[in-house]
Amino acid sequence: VDNGLALTPPMGFNDWNSFGCNVSEQLIEQTADYFVSSGLKAAGYTYVNIDDCWMTHSRDADGRLVPDPVKFPDGIKGTADYVHAKGLKLGIYEDAGTATCAGYPGSLGHETTDAQSFADWGVDYLKYDNCNNQSDGSKADYLNRYTAMGDALKATGRPIVYSLCEWGDLKPWEWAGDIGNLWRTTGDISDNWGSLKSITDANLPLAAYAKAGAWNDPDMLEVGNGGMTDTEYRTHFSLWSMMNAPLLIGTDLRKATPQTMDILLNKDVIALDQDPLGKQATVLSSSGGAQVVVKQLANGDRAVALYNESDQPQHIATTAKAVGLPASALGYRVRDLWQHRDYQSAGTLAATVPAHGTVLLRVGKDLGALLDPSL
Ligand code: DGJ
Repeated sequence: VDNGLALTPPMGFNDWNSFGCNVSEQLIEQTADYFVSSGLKAAGYTYVNIDDCWMTHSRDADGRLVPDPVKFPDGIKGTADYVHAKGLKLGIYEDAGTATCAGYPGSLGHETTDAQSFADWGVDYLKYDNCNNQSDGSKADYLNRYTAMGDALKATGRPIVYSLCEWGDLKPWEWAGDIGNLWRTTGDISDNWGSLKSITDANLPLAAYAKAGAWNDPDMLEVGNGGMTDTEYRTHFSLWSMMNAPLLIGTDLRKATPQTMDILLNKDVIALDQDPLGKQATVLSSSGGAQVVVKQLANGDRAVALYNESDQPQHIATTAKAVGLPASALGYRVRDLWQHRDYQSAGTLAATVPAHGTVLLRVGKDLGALLDPSL
């Protein structure tokens, strides 16, 4: 939606994937601290987001939502102040139904009051879920419920990123771009290869619907949670960046391994996600689980993912011409974004890719060799 926000996909953290209902002010503040000390903030991660279970089971006498005083002793306002003092932003969660998925008060019929609470507390991001929605399942109903909160947020005057979480139910990519900044395209991710593969297959074909301020959301990251190999997590992070997905870390950062941090902090890969052209990658070819996925970049380069969905190693190959680069007598410069290796190519882009692996390349026409003989 055209609210000037999320001109590139949002980057940050959300507690749900690794903590479920076990959210707290302490966790959010420690995560904010870690964003600063670990270099995540410098790499672009900005939003520290609270998911379900942050409130009490009933509204106050004025009908307002009440943060759980045990989990959030300083309230959402106090938590937001802390996060803002670190130069970061705070996200929160609510639901377009009578109750959240975990059974806390929902915002249906309370949109104006709740949006105002969020704005008063200094919230910068709202994830809006779809449980207990009392819906007749019609598109009109979905539009009403999600527009009501969008309008209420807008009326507060505070810039708040609006994330629609209706799980791809009613093809939100066809209508949610007029309402919010991103929309979930599938059900919940889980920390295993089958989930990653099926979500990727569902989200890849939706490139045409994404643009600056309006992104497909294949759900939050599982990188670091232990159910996949680092090869699979690199595929996860590669494809999310190729698909202009939000990069919302879903692991306990206080326990993250150096391998996990290497993935989350790969600046070359993040640069694909955050590329100012804002074009989601498309599938150039797919056969026997060997996929060539290509993303056009603002400076004319192409990002090329040689993605092996299959269960055995495969040689995957394409060419500079096939990925859309102009002919070049000098050839092409290629950077392997996981091996951190630069090389020249006459035009072939190929690698032997391990099972479930992705070789991620950034390729451009070679102008540098002319100007700089040392290259
Ligand atoms: C369903 C959503 O899809 C999840 O991401 C999470 O927000 C849970 N609800 C919380 O109850």
